[in-house]
Amino acid sequence: MIKKILVIHGPNLNLLGEREPGIYGNTGIDALNSTIIDRAKKHGLECEIFQSNHEGAIIDKLHAARTAFDGVIINAGAYTHYSYAIRDAIAAIKVPVIEVHISNVFARDEFRSKSVIAPVCKGSISGFGFGSYYLAVQALAEL
Ligand code: DQA
Repeated sequence: MIKKILVIHGPNLNLLGEREPGIYGNTGIDALNSTIIDRAKKHGLECEIFQSNHEGAIIDKLHAARTAFDGVIINAGAYTHYSYAIRDAIAAIKVPVIEVHISNVFARDEFRSKSVIAPVCKGSISGFGFGSYYLAVQALAEL
């Protein structure tokens, strides 16, 4: 059976390419998504991608993932640092979830060095630009 993975982009990631390009680069989310899908295919994975700026919508998608997907990659954006609701949703599902960040969250503002979701994720990848997502795809393929 083909493994199915879900990629969740959280708040403000729809603005990739124009949002703080010095930190997040000049490339938009559509190009990122097509490379993610490409990498997933190369690893024999089927991939769905979801973006939302709303905490509840992200939680609903995580709940839906418990029967529909074999693994999840999440960039929860700023929710990473304070959303206990997203943390609880990740803890509630058995599907492995990998946390990713484009920037190195430990090398920026103090508040970004705390992830409330990290303890309930399988692992975290931070600081490799869009490569953080591609590494997470590889990690899910190898799980
Ligand atoms: C981010 C880092 C977060 O601190 C920030 O709020 C984001 C993006 C990253 O991918 O580097 O929105 O998750």
